[in-house]
Amino acid sequence: MTSYKELGLVNTKDMFAKAVAGGFAIPAYNFNNMEQMQAIIQACVETKSPVILQVSAGARKYANGTLLRNMAKGAVEYAHELGYDIPIVLHLDHGADFEICKECIDNGFSSVMIDGSHFPYEENIALTRKVVEYAHKYDVTVEGELGVLAGIEDDVVAAHSTYTQPEEVIDFVSKTGVDSLAISIGTSHGANKFKPEQCTRNAEGILIPPPLRFDILEEIEKKLPGFPIVLHGSSSVPQDQVAIINANGGALKDAVGIPEEQLRKAAKSAVCKINIDSDGRLAMTAAIRKYMAEHPDHFDPRQYLSPARDSLKTIYMAKNKNVLGSAGQA
Ligand code: G3H
Ligand code: 13P
Ligand code: ZN
Repeated sequence: MTSYKELGLVNTKDMFAKAVAGGFAIPAYNFNNMEQMQAIIQACVETKSPVILQVSAGARKYANGTLLRNMAKGAVEYAHELGYDIPIVLHLDHGADFEICKECIDNGFSSVMIDGSHFPYEENIALTRKVVEYAHKYDVTVEGELGVLAGIEDDVVAAHSTYTQPEEVIDFVSKTGVDSLAISIGTSHGANKFKPEQCTRNAEGILIPPPLRFDILEEIEKKLPGFPIVLHGSSSVPQDQVAIINANGGALKDAVGIPEEQLRKAAKSAVCKINIDSDGRLAMTAAIRKYMAEHPDHFDPRQYLSPARDSLKTIYMAKNKNVLGSAGQA
């Protein structure tokens, strides 16, 4: 058993309390490798932002859970070396069952998500409750989910979305004991969040997505005043990055995300954790494709991963400052 406390990590409790009270959201950035971790920590140290390092089942399969956990431990020391100790959470993203949550709790994670959103309501409650009972013994915080997001992103797949039903949230939170609740109000995973037919087009032909269901969010806030709410699928899918990818051999079609103004509005509400993965993937891919096209004779991975890491850091800094409002809150 390795407690996250030995690794210098924190759980989400204080972080979320401050975020709800202060009208900002904590960035939850997914990472799978060293360059992503470096970019996240550099960006969050430079903007003095608390951060949630998020690890999916896919990330554990790709990189190995032990290595990722030790990278998170290293991240705490790395932030210190960079000159500012920011609070860092190591969080399991979309835990599918009790076993993976237990394994992460036993191995240094300070927070886990149990994603029972695909199960019938009572099953979701029973599974989530079981994880909470185990996690709380070790001071690990738990995120549950009610409502289903649409979209496809590797291991996180759902053909149809269902919005969170505000009538269920009080019952779910009180029966499960979760520390935060992920909800479905129109976001979805991946770089194609909406079908073109769900969108309108502006004069330049850019897809404009339908607005998030802020009415549902408000209803939920009324039922659970001050309770930490989480938004998944919150990448903005910057069109300049999509254009760089497509200008350099890529073929991303109809990629569209959540407009930043809407995320800013959400961050000012009870939404205190905003999950971002796809924007980082796009930024890295754009930088690497551009570098490769411009330097066909280069073959040292450090040469193309350096601009990819820099680009990643730039977008994370901008998000902390201009979208989530987490800059200066560490
Ligand atoms: O919500 C899903 C995250 O973006 C993780 O995706 O399963 O491809 O690592 P992944
Ligand atoms: P995006 O695909 O919008 O980045 O969402 C990531 C996410 O929700 C991770 O859990
Ligand atoms: Zn997610």
